[in-house]
Order: sequence, then C-alpha cells, then structure tokens
Amino acid sequence: MLAPIADAVRYSMLGGGKRLRPQLVLAVYRAAGGKGDASLLAASVEIVHAYSLVHDDLPCMDDDSVRRGRPTLHRVYGVTVATIAGVTMVPFAARTALEGAQALGLPLEACGSIVRELMRASGAGGMVGGQLLDLEGEGKPLTLPDLERIHRAKTGALIAASVRIGATAAGASGSRATALDRYGGSVGLAFQIADDVLDATATSEQLGKTAGRDAALGKITYPAVLGVDGAIARASELADEACQALEAVNLLTPELEHLARFSVSRRS
Ligand code: IPE
Ligand code: IPE
Ligand code: MG
Ligand code: MG
Ligand code: MG
Repeated sequence: MLAPIADAVRYSMLGGGKRLRPQLVLAVYRAAGGKGDASLLAASVEIVHAYSLVHDDLPCMDDDSVRRGRPTLHRVYGVTVATIAGVTMVPFAARTALEGAQALGLPLEACGSIVRELMRASGAGGMVGGQLLDLEGEGKPLTLPDLERIHRAKTGALIAASVRIGATAAGASGSRATALDRYGGSVGLAFQIADDVLDATATSEQLGKTAGRDAALGKITYPAVLGVDGAIARASELADEACQALEAVNLLTPELEHLARFSVSRRS
C-alpha cells in the first residue's frame, strides 16, 4: 500500500472508539455457542465502521474537524488521501471477513454469507444509502418513519450485520437466528437515536467530536421530533425489545444485555 494511504488507514483504525460492533460480533458468536477465535471477523466490521467515519467527516458530508478526540483524517492528511484511504478500507474489510471466516474453518457457504452480509450492509441498501438519505434530508421536514428508515440504514445496518455475522459464524439458525436479527435491528436503531441525543445534550469534550453538529447542519433528529426525553424513552424501549427477543430463545447473556443497554446509556 502507498505510504500515505497506509498511514491514513492506521490513523483511522487506531484512534480509539468504543469498538461496539466488534464486541457485538464476539458476544453473539459466544452466546450462540461459537468456540473459536472470531477476532478477525470482529475486526472486519470495525474496518467498515472506521471507513464510514472517515467519509462521514469529509467536507462534502458532515464537514467535521474532530473525531475520537483528534483532528479528523482529512484535516491531517488532506481530502484526497482521506477519500482514497476510506475506499481502500472496503476491500480490506471484505478480505478480512473472508480470512476471519476461513480461520474458523467455516463451510464455504457460511464464508460467502458472511462476506455478502458485510458488503450488503455497507452498500446502497445499507450504510452508504442511508448516508445519502441523511444528507438529502438536511433542511427538510422529515417524518418519524423517514427518520427511522435513515437511521436503520446509515447506522442500524452495520450493527445488525455485526450480530448476523456472529450468528452465522456460530451456526445459529431458525428461531435463534430470527431472535438475533430482531436484537441487532433494535440495538442498531437505538444506537443512532442515542447518538442524536448525545449530539444535542453532551459536550464536544465528552464526545470527542463536535457536539451540536446535527442542528448546525439542519438535520432532523429523534430529539428534534420527539424531544430529548421522548427520544431517550424510544431508545430504551428498543433496548428492552432487543433483550426480550433474546430472552425468549434463551440467548440473553449478561454481555448481550450489557451491550444493548450500553448502546442507550453511554455518555460518548
Ligand atoms: C459514531 O459511531 C457514528 C455512528 C454510526 C453513530 P460510534 O459512536 O460507534 O463511534 P466510535 O467508534 O465509538 O468512535
Ligand atoms: C453517522 O451518523 C453514520 C455513519 C454511517 C458514520 P452521524 O453523522 O450522526 O455520526 P457522528 O455523529 O458524526 O459520529
Ligand atoms: Mg453523518
Ligand atoms: Mg457525522
Ligand atoms: Mg451523530
């Protein structure tokens, strides 16, 4: 890899962050009976997430200058290197997912499903498509269903994929796989509602990114539609639903309960 691109990829990957998505992959994998080392699979999802943040911060998107408590990638390396580094991370993620699935000795079909799921969630019907809807929605009076659709796509899809990848790697099927899908979908939406609430209520120091950015960009958010308390209540309800779905099939481990609640109660 060209030196500035490699440095830029390293900067975006090694800059901290909560690592929620890889934790979800590992927690679901273990809860569903997986016994191997799924760390490469977990890393593959975080690579897509880190790239999504690099592009999200670009001047043509949310035009942000701080991320994870440091200058954003394009502020350090310039827009061209940041754009290319971000794109470079997509095939890197796909390769890492395949290697992660192979390292677990999964059958070819499961390896394919995992890579397909990661790329599907990252693409036009998931994260990237949601990002476009988010930008197109700036300054427009969106309804709650519009907003839910955007949030489920731009953020929910990758979180749901983290859960599905952990489930597929562990061989979950039938009602257990369905319950895990419900968990992933609910946690994904709850996570972005909490992100909107934090943007409106926390400080930039707490967040490690610019607070109040949504209002400054004219984005409609959950707290803008439901009020801060209403948005928090909706996110908590989703975390409850996520936990109940797993409880019903005996899959609710303390780790998965913690990750669902943390998605809502986090302070950054
Ligand atoms: C921020 O994600 C962007 C969203 C999708 C809401 P995180 O809050 O997971 O960011 P890091 O990885 O902890 O920095
Ligand atoms: C980001 O949503 C969703 C992504 C796919 C990165 P935001 O634009 O709200 O994320 P932050 O608040 O900048 O982290
Ligand atoms: Mg954004
Ligand atoms: Mg942003
Ligand atoms: Mg935000």
